[in-house]
Amino acid sequence: MLSLMEISEQDAARALLRWYADMGVDEATATDPADYYAWSARPAAPAPHPQARPEARPQRAEPAPKVFRPDPDAAAISADEAIGAAEKAARACNSFEELEAAVAAFEGCPLKAGATKTVFADGVPGADLLVIGEAPGRNEDRIGKPFVGRAGQLLDRMLAAIGRSRETNVLISNVIYWRPPGNRTPSPMETATCRPFVDRLIELTEPRAIALAGGAPLQAMLGVTGIMRARGRWRDIETASGARFAALPMFHPAFLLRQPANKRLAWADLQALEGRLREG
Ligand code: URA
Repeated sequence: MLSLMEISEQDAARALLRWYADMGVDEATATDPADYYAWSARPAAPAPHPQARPEARPQRAEPAPKVFRPDPDAAAISADEAIGAAEKAARACNSFEELEAAVAAFEGCPLKAGATKTVFADGVPGADLLVIGEAPGRNEDRIGKPFVGRAGQLLDRMLAAIGRSRETNVLISNVIYWRPPGNRTPSPMETATCRPFVDRLIELTEPRAIALAGGAPLQAMLGVTGIMRARGRWRDIETASGARFAALPMFHPAFLLRQPANKRLAWADLQALEGRLREG
């Protein structure tokens, strides 16, 4: 066994970086480290940003990087309360814009505290095709739109192959609106909390077909596991109001990037989607 003295600084730095990555810290928001505990402990308000050196202070204050600091005085909200609050907020919305604002204002999903942006939807509200993916990743969290990274570019190409684009005739969203740390799969509690908003999005935009991209939306929207078996078979999503919408589970584009041999099956699913939309 190695003694502590035998671990080199390099190994220690590597282990620290690995730990950061596991915790979801995968992006530097500033060049110098900052002690946010010392910063928050300062009594005087407004507290200066710890990195603001007098000689380098900008004319207009830069917004501080968003850091998750749990409020010890805040009463913990239970999962049931969070879901209840989401249901109430979603039910009150009568337009896509109202729903977008309600999601942005919602504080019941703990993922929001660690995210940079709320990622709601992109494309044409009311398009006959709705694509529902898993959750924002790093690029989506930075830009505030779903599917803008490599997987998103592949999704755009797949949609283009059946004459679809977010500029003209498809709406794209996710079952989660905030990036999970380290891009982990959202937990059942997180998807259950966001579900009322997803249901309301479907009810308000009334798509004729919904593509569920990957195992996470398959499970969140239909309670079904196993995308390999479920893909390509039409099912009904029942929303909170009891309305039913046709949904086709498909592979997630990130999976297709890793396993391009499955593009053949994805192409078959895209054609099924397109055929159904053409039939009306
Ligand atoms: N993967 C998803 O499922 N959704 C996104 O928005 C981006 C990547």
